[in-house]
Amino acid sequence: MKDEATITSRELVLEIKDLHKSFGDNHVLNGFNMKLYQGENLVIMGKSGSGKSVMIKCLVGLMEADKGTITVMDNDITKLDQKSLDVLRADIGFLFQGSALYDSMTVRENLEFPLRRHKRAFKNHNNTEKLVVEALKNVGLEHTIDLMPSELSGGMKRRVALARTLILQPKIILYDEPTSGLDPITAKEIIILMQDIQKTYGTSSLIITHDVDCARVISDRMILLIDGVDYAKGTFKELSASNDPKIKAFFKQ
Ligand SMILES: Nc1ncnc2c1ncn2[C@@H]1O[C@H](COP(=O)(O)OP(=O)(O)OP(=O)(O)O)[C@@H](O)[C@H]1O
Ligand SMILES: [Mg+2]
Repeated sequence: MKDEATITSRELVLEIKDLHKSFGDNHVLNGFNMKLYQGENLVIMGKSGSGKSVMIKCLVGLMEADKGTITVMDNDITKLDQKSLDVLRADIGFLFQGSALYDSMTVRENLEFPLRRHKRAFKNHNNTEKLVVEALKNVGLEHTIDLMPSELSGGMKRRVALARTLILQPKIILYDEPTSGLDPITAKEIIILMQDIQKTYGTSSLIITHDVDCARVISDRMILLIDGVDYAKGTFKELSASNDPKIKAFFKQ
């Protein structure tokens, strides 16, 4: 764990300001703000349906925000043309909620997919085999290269999805519920893997979770998404000691 003051003195890699998103009368995000600094693990917690996935989808341009600015490595993503957005996306790894592997493709084909998609941005694409094997080694699953997703366990799928995210060597990784649906031991393995990745590559990570154990172990800083806004921020220690009932509710076991 890193000291909060050290982190906030670092370079800002991602910033969301005043993000609004509604679906009809359902006002999901009502002015959400966040900053992600170089090399940190920022955890965002919020209860189910609070808008965590919506926020992350706005962030990667899968959903259009109603209002607000999103700056990724000095680029305002709402103002980028498609080509520049694609180049920038190669720097942002996104581990979807669930694992979202392509069921009709082998593990190898799943991992080759982002390399083909980001050919323009990725210079070493000639040696895909080597990259695929290395990425699988990173998650301890090189032996699954020719298997289909249906032949893998839930935890293995999650690790393959993580390998697929890592293959483009992203500067920022967005994790949407990386441990959900996994048993505690497998969840712990995924968390250790995430920590290893951060240490090896110096990646900046935004981790969305409602797993308190995951937040405790991995977070340098945390933001609580409540009522569509960044209701509280601080370290795990600070937030878990809060007397605010809305905050306390998160940390009750
Ligand atoms: N495409 C959509 N169209 C309409 N409503 C949507 C859409 N996507 C999300 N919502 C609504 O936005 C709200 C927030 O959904 P979101 O998926 O962001 O929740 P979440 O915080 O990620 O929850 P969970 O922890 O269960 O994953 C929900 O009320 C949901 O019904
Ligand atoms: Mg979600």
